[in-house]
Amino acid sequence: MVRRLKERFEKKFDDEIRFFKGMMQGPKTVGAIAPTSSITARRMASVANPHSGLPVLELGPGTGVITKAILERGVKPKDLVSIEYSEDFYEHLVQAFPGVNFVHGDAFDLKKTLGERADQKFDCVISAVPLLNFPMADRIALLETLLDHIPPGRPVMQISYGPVSPILAKPSSYHIQHYDFVVRNIPPAQLWVYRRN
Ligand SMILES: C[S@@+](CC[C@H](N)C(=O)[O-])C[C@H]1O[C@@H](n2cnc3c(N)ncnc32)[C@H](O)[C@@H]1O
Repeated sequence: MVRRLKERFEKKFDDEIRFFKGMMQGPKTVGAIAPTSSITARRMASVANPHSGLPVLELGPGTGVITKAILERGVKPKDLVSIEYSEDFYEHLVQAFPGVNFVHGDAFDLKKTLGERADQKFDCVISAVPLLNFPMADRIALLETLLDHIPPGRPVMQISYGPVSPILAKPSSYHIQHYDFVVRNIPPAQLWVYRRN
C-alpha cells in the first residue's frame, strides 16, 4: 500500500517535471501551467463510448493524463488514436501507453497527420489542444473537420481556460454545450462539447 502510494506520487511528480519542461520549450503549444487533473480527465473521457465499434480520437495528450482516463473508461489501446505535436511528449507517450496509436503531428493538418487513417470515422474526439493560442478561423476549420470525422450527434470534447467557448457559435453547422466547470484543476477548467445539429 505504502509502495503503491510512493509509486503514484513519483509518477505524478515525473509528469509535472515533464510538463514544466514542455512548457519552457513551447509555452504557446502547451498552453497550460500544469497537467490536467485526473478529475477533469475523467469528466472529458466520460463521453467516450467503448462499445461503439469506432476508435476514439484524442488531440494534444501531453503527459497522458487524459489518455489514461480514456483507457480506464474501457476504450482498448488499439481503439485509441492520439495526435501529439511535441516530440518529447510523443516519445514518452509511446513508452508509457503500449498499444495506443500515437501519431506525432499537427492536429490542424488532420488529413496529413492521420495519413492512411484519413477517412476513418471516430466515436468522438477528446481534445486538449490549446485552441486559444490559434486564430479563430483555424479553430473553426479544425472543429468542422473533426465533426466530419464522427457520426452526427457525437461529441467533440474540448478543454479550455476562458469563460466563453473557445470556438465561435455557428448554429447552422454545430451546437455548443457548456459541459462542465472543474474547479479542481490548475487553472480551473471549462469543458465544452460541440455536436453537429
Ligand atoms: C494543455 S497541454 C495538454 C495537457 C495534457 N492534458 C496533460 O495534462 O499533460 C496541450 C497539448 O497539446 C499539444 N499540442 C499543441 N498544439 C498541437 C497541435 N497542433 N497538434 C497536436 N497537439 C498539439 C501540446 O504539445 C500539449 O501536449
